[in-house]
Amino acid sequence: MNWIISFFTSSLGKKLIMALTGLFLIVFLLIHLTGNSMLLLNDGGEAFTGFVVFMETNPLIKIAAYILYLGFIIHILQGIFVWLANRRAKGGSYAVTTTANASIFSKYMFWFGMVILIFLIIHLSDFWLGLKVTHTFGDEELYDKLIDKFHNPVFLVIYELGMVALFMHLRHGFQSAFQTLGLNDKKWTPIVKCLGNIYSILVPLGFFIIPLYVYFVK
Ligand code: HEM
Repeated sequence: MNWIISFFTSSLGKKLIMALTGLFLIVFLLIHLTGNSMLLLNDGGEAFTGFVVFMETNPLIKIAAYILYLGFIIHILQGIFVWLANRRAKGGSYAVTTTANASIFSKYMFWFGMVILIFLIIHLSDFWLGLKVTHTFGDEELYDKLIDKFHNPVFLVIYELGMVALFMHLRHGFQSAFQTLGLNDKKWTPIVKCLGNIYSILVPLGFFIIPLYVYFVK
């Protein structure tokens, strides 16, 4: 038992936790974007509501949702701990972010993560809380609530800022997670880099377009 604790509190163990929880969240975002892209259809929200109902009632997805919440909490807490430890050590072994030639993406990983956290708190209190915790509205009302929300310019701007931060965070995070898992040799680095570029541009762009589309078209 002791070796497990010492592994996960070691520098490598901490990086591994960040990478594994990060990859889990990367998969979640793809599924979430698939559901949300149904908001682009001109069907009065039928397909979107169907997707939400399916996600809510499928027992396997219900279990995955709890793992997802845990993944978010661990990823955020570990990110904060690592950042604090790095600041104290000024150039510790996890200090990818402090090298002089680091990209803006890796340098401000923590701060982009904090903007996403603020976005997430606002986002969850807007939709998830009422739908799944306080039950102030049901699946059928979710679509109208979303359309209403995205017609508020303040909410729209907060949302789009969150998506810019998501793009910046993923730009370094995607590649970094795979590197931590050992895919950083001659063969894998270009593949991971290419996939990272595609993912970190297309997924935030998809999330970025949806509120704009609702604001201007619906
Ligand atoms: C166009 C952009 C987005 C829209 C329209 C949207 C919409 C929604 C809605 C309606 C819900 C509640 C229903 C459900 O669980 O599916 C939800 C839940 C959630 N959203 Fe989003 N979302 C967007 C972007 C994001 C982003 C970028 C993140 C993460 C960084 C995120 C994280 C979450 C999480 C963690 C939940 C709770 C999931 C669950 O309980 O299973 N969302 N979102």
